[in-house]
Amino acid sequence: MNDKSQQSVANSLEAEQNLLPYMPYLLQDLWAFGSSVNQILDLIGTLPLSSDSTKVLDLGCGKGAVSIRIASKLRFDVVGVDAMSEFLKDAQRKSSEYQVSDLCCFIERDILTYVTNEHNFDIVILASLGGIFGSNKKTIENLRTQIRPGGYMIIDDGYLKKREVLSRKGYEHYRNYEKTVQELTFFNDRLFTEISTTEVSRKTNDEYLKVIDNRCMKLISQYPELEKDIKNYLDLQREECDIINSELEGMIWVLKKAAA
Ligand SMILES: C[S@@+](CC[C@H](N)C(=O)[O-])C[C@H]1O[C@@H](n2cnc3c(N)ncnc32)[C@H](O)[C@@H]1O
Repeated sequence: MNDKSQQSVANSLEAEQNLLPYMPYLLQDLWAFGSSVNQILDLIGTLPLSSDSTKVLDLGCGKGAVSIRIASKLRFDVVGVDAMSEFLKDAQRKSSEYQVSDLCCFIERDILTYVTNEHNFDIVILASLGGIFGSNKKTIENLRTQIRPGGYMIIDDGYLKKREVLSRKGYEHYRNYEKTVQELTFFNDRLFTEISTTEVSRKTNDEYLKVIDNRCMKLISQYPELEKDIKNYLDLQREECDIINSELEGMIWVLKKAAA
């Protein structure tokens, strides 16, 4: 992984780059990293698509929690792209466990370069990657290049409940509801469905924190020299949960790409 990809992965996991080698250990008890898997699955289940021909792209798929559940429940073909090889190994293992390895293909690549080539998927998913492409408008501009006209873009992210902007690193793309929708529909795509994830993700985040806290303590006892960095990482995780709870409304947006 080059330095730019490493930085992007570290940002998406709210970690400093020097902790990246330890992230597979710290996140070993989690399958999904912050996305609302069941809600994404339910929403996709309502789309008018048939199981024998639908192709899905899951950008930043992590350990494949979303990809594999889609393949398993809906029998869609799924391509998951992520830069962390350790996460993809877990995704591969899980796809065998769920008996969907024939439907799943996991690719180790930087998604910022992956999207520079156009693709013709029916659905593209961006779950819990925030503003990796920049603004919401930039996100949609990039996602649109990955699907056919009439295809669907699914974004698991959110909007600011009270403020106009947040200056915290990784949160610069957030806007209020109206501005977010304006940006997401800038290219005349239709906002097909939207659903709040706030309640579900609050529970998930609490669980996430407990699990990570436990692994962090174990890691500190193994590597006392990392104590400061690991505690800093834990503080960031707690801060992130607080911000999500107080400032953001979690949302899954489903957009239908305009016809050509
Ligand atoms: C917060 S996790 C979300 C994972 C997954 N979507 C899920 O919901 O479980 C962010 C993921 O994006 C990946 N990632 C971040 N930046 C990336 C990049 N530039 N290229 C590829 N993967 C990236 C990380 O490795 C990580 O697996």
